[in-house]
Amino acid sequence: MRSESEVPFSDNPFSIPIADRVKRLPPYLFGKINKLKYEKRVAGVDVIDLGMGNPTDPPDPLIIEKMTEALSDPKNHRYSVSNGIANLRKEVATRYFKKYGVRLDPDSEIVTCIGSKEGFSHLCLALMGPGDTAIVPAPYFPIHVYAVALAAGNVISLDCREPDKFLSNIAYTCQHLYPKPKLVIVNFPHNPSTTCVEQDFYDELVKLAKRYEFLVISDFAYADICFDGYKAPSFLSSKGASDVGVEFTTMSKGYSMAGWRVGFCAGNQEMVRALATIKGYYDYGLFQPTQIAAIVAMRHCEAAVESVADEYQVRRDVLCDGLERIGWELERPKGTMFVWAKIPEPWAKMGSIDFAMKLLDEGGVAVSPGRGFGEDGEGYLRLAIVENVQRLRQAVRQIDRCLNKSAVTAES
Ligand SMILES: Cc1ncc(COP(=O)(O)O)c(C=O)c1O
Repeated sequence: MRSESEVPFSDNPFSIPIADRVKRLPPYLFGKINKLKYEKRVAGVDVIDLGMGNPTDPPDPLIIEKMTEALSDPKNHRYSVSNGIANLRKEVATRYFKKYGVRLDPDSEIVTCIGSKEGFSHLCLALMGPGDTAIVPAPYFPIHVYAVALAAGNVISLDCREPDKFLSNIAYTCQHLYPKPKLVIVNFPHNPSTTCVEQDFYDELVKLAKRYEFLVISDFAYADICFDGYKAPSFLSSKGASDVGVEFTTMSKGYSMAGWRVGFCAGNQEMVRALATIKGYYDYGLFQPTQIAAIVAMRHCEAAVESVADEYQVRRDVLCDGLERIGWELERPKGTMFVWAKIPEPWAKMGSIDFAMKLLDEGGVAVSPGRGFGEDGEGYLRLAIVENVQRLRQAVRQIDRCLNKSAVTAES
């Protein structure tokens, strides 16, 4: 018998068996655009980047000041607690009560997350398994699909741009699918389509959830970014909402703290506990100075949140006015950091990915193609209003020049 050291090595390349959960992920359709954006930047092109809802403005100076102070306290450099420090959760409860009239117990009904995306993903892992189905709103924000797929669940996407129809399609799916969907994900104001709802939408959703016994996750990322006096309702304000679901909020948008990664899950105790359990295994919570600064932000910076929303409203108007002037069709959003625009007729056949590539390559403006949000997004572009008004005006001029140049070329 040969000893182990004598067994010859195979010359075949060693194969890395990646888990099926990774293989099940849908293709990442922003890859081509991101590569071109990177190449343009390396070549020195000043790309006007309306691709991602990533705020470019800094948080209120008071938040930075508190962070700096907390950094110099040696006690704040240890591991924190994975569900968030008690005073931060209390502050979230206070804000929910002030803004939405919702009473929450900070200990059993709120958990802090490393950005709402982390919390959302891990909650899907806590709730979903093989054979379980989730309904997600379409066109879809990618993590709504990826998190369910990574948790081995199946996805049914339903167009949410007409909220009443969305509700009746949820009911229809529950009546006809076996086993029934376990989870319904909602996200209003909606990324990418900017669709908004009123409280009666959630009243009806809670009734459906009780009738068909599904759970609800409300992704309320754009709670703070509303325009023209519109106030986005919280799912948790609807009677009985906490019996069936939870809501995620974030400090990324209204407080311009995207890189700080502060989000929250609030509502149903069982769901909050399940998320806290998973997080207890995976992480040690947010860096403590971040949590302390987040408390100060929520306690003292509500006016800053309002002026952030006002600034986005001004940018929305600048971009929408400009695009309408060059003949684009769009609906002015009541919320979110995006404009969802139909690709103008002469280019509609081109497909949103190629059209977005053209705007980037020939116009120096990066936008997100609707197709990146699933088939229901085809024919549209999502433009994030994250650049200042001068750059937005410049973006419109560059888009106009790029398209008119090709219109002339096409005619000649
Ligand atoms: C709909 C939606 N949900 C969640 C997130 C993620 O937010 P966070 O920074 O809290 O992880 C975003 C960010 O763009 C979003 O648009």
